[in-house]
Amino acid sequence: MRPGRLIIKGGCRPVGKVEISGAKNAALPLLMATLLAKGEHRISNVPDVTDVHTAKKLLEVLGAKATFSDQTMTIDTTALSQTKAPDEIVRQMRASILALGPLLARFGEAEAAMPGGCAIGERPVNIHLDGLSALGAMIGVEKGYIRAKANRLAGARIRLDFPTVTGTENLMMAATLARGKTIIENAAQEPEIVDLSSALNAMGAQISGAGTEQIKIEGVRELHPLQDYEVMGDRVEAGTFLIAAAATRGDLLLERANSEYLIATTALLRQAGAVIEADPAARTIRVKGPERLKSIHVVTAPYPGFPTDLQAQMMAAVTTANGRSTIREEIFENRLMQVKEMQKMGAAITVRGNMAEVNGLASSLRGSEVRAMDLRASASLIILGMMAEGTTEITGIEHLDRGYERIEQKLAAVGVDISRLDIS
Ligand code: EPZ
Repeated sequence: MRPGRLIIKGGCRPVGKVEISGAKNAALPLLMATLLAKGEHRISNVPDVTDVHTAKKLLEVLGAKATFSDQTMTIDTTALSQTKAPDEIVRQMRASILALGPLLARFGEAEAAMPGGCAIGERPVNIHLDGLSALGAMIGVEKGYIRAKANRLAGARIRLDFPTVTGTENLMMAATLARGKTIIENAAQEPEIVDLSSALNAMGAQISGAGTEQIKIEGVRELHPLQDYEVMGDRVEAGTFLIAAAATRGDLLLERANSEYLIATTALLRQAGAVIEADPAARTIRVKGPERLKSIHVVTAPYPGFPTDLQAQMMAAVTTANGRSTIREEIFENRLMQVKEMQKMGAAITVRGNMAEVNGLASSLRGSEVRAMDLRASASLIILGMMAEGTTEITGIEHLDRGYERIEQKLAAVGVDISRLDIS
């Protein structure tokens, strides 16, 4: 991935087909799950994004052998040599914390640098650690490292204070090798949890209830490697393209897109006037944007509610809607940073606490030089650049490359005037 900047000339309508890549947020826990079983694992439909390369680096630091080509990752975890996820990797990717549960379950000990906060919030991991303690681990935190030890984890009933996605994933993985039964209550219900549960069951785990608020795990003695597992499609990438087309009078056919994972998003877009036809059997979604979107009211929530990962993109789309829209961010305490950059481009947005009000009647979007602050904010600025008059330059696109595979190529292929300049 190359940093640099994206140049977008506004005003073109995206028309054509887009193939959705594998889901970053499903691939990352799946890669960490390979630590639970020794042998050679094969995982396909893995997106070629920075976070996946970081996860591969972490597996190699732990002693695994890994190769990644043509969206397929093969990982040999036979000769793992250490159980410590070092700071320099955790700094690059908080999801490295997902190594903790598997390492602890397989080796009885694990260390991981405490993930810091990031642009969108403080992002503590207390629920992860409380859950691992409930499974019998001794947890200590010193000099910025989490140290966990347990002879053998013992199943327990765990109620999560918040349905944390990676917290649910960490505990589900740890419980697969615990003695006895674990019940996780108030579990996250995201589709990525279901994908991970299916993969773990393919490795010999006994998990039921993934995708509901109560997940049951019967511990087993050992697991066997993933033979050939295909990562699910990326619902956030698909949602990003749906919103981009709806906001620019576009007409896109998304392929390898699971509409059943985007119910809240497609409902809101239909409310705003987009025409959306889904074919679950063919895994396609057709979206046509209206002349002008109607204003809507967005509140982010844990799945199956409207996803926080599409909040910034929806905000961009409604900056020229026919009325006042409101956007309330309920998941992260600081995930409205894109507003400043959008205001630079002429969007009429006011923020009070975690609520943004977007006055579509007062915005006049013009291309500007803007900076991306986090992964999904960078996608929202691309959408705004597509909507604005003139040319928009986006810097900070290393954030974009963490989670979107070849997004500028995919957009250029449907007629968007977008290119990447390598100077940073
Ligand atoms: C996952 O992050 C995703 N990342 C995020 O996607 C996504 O935004 C988020 O879930 C919410 O859907 C991956 O799956 C790798 P959380 P995660 O734990 O698990 C609080 C992207 O753009 N919390 O569900 O870290 C936390 O502070 C990324 O792809 C605790 O208080 O999110 C936050 O307010 C960004 N204690 C809320 O829960 C904990 O121990 C949701 O966080 C854990 C979380």
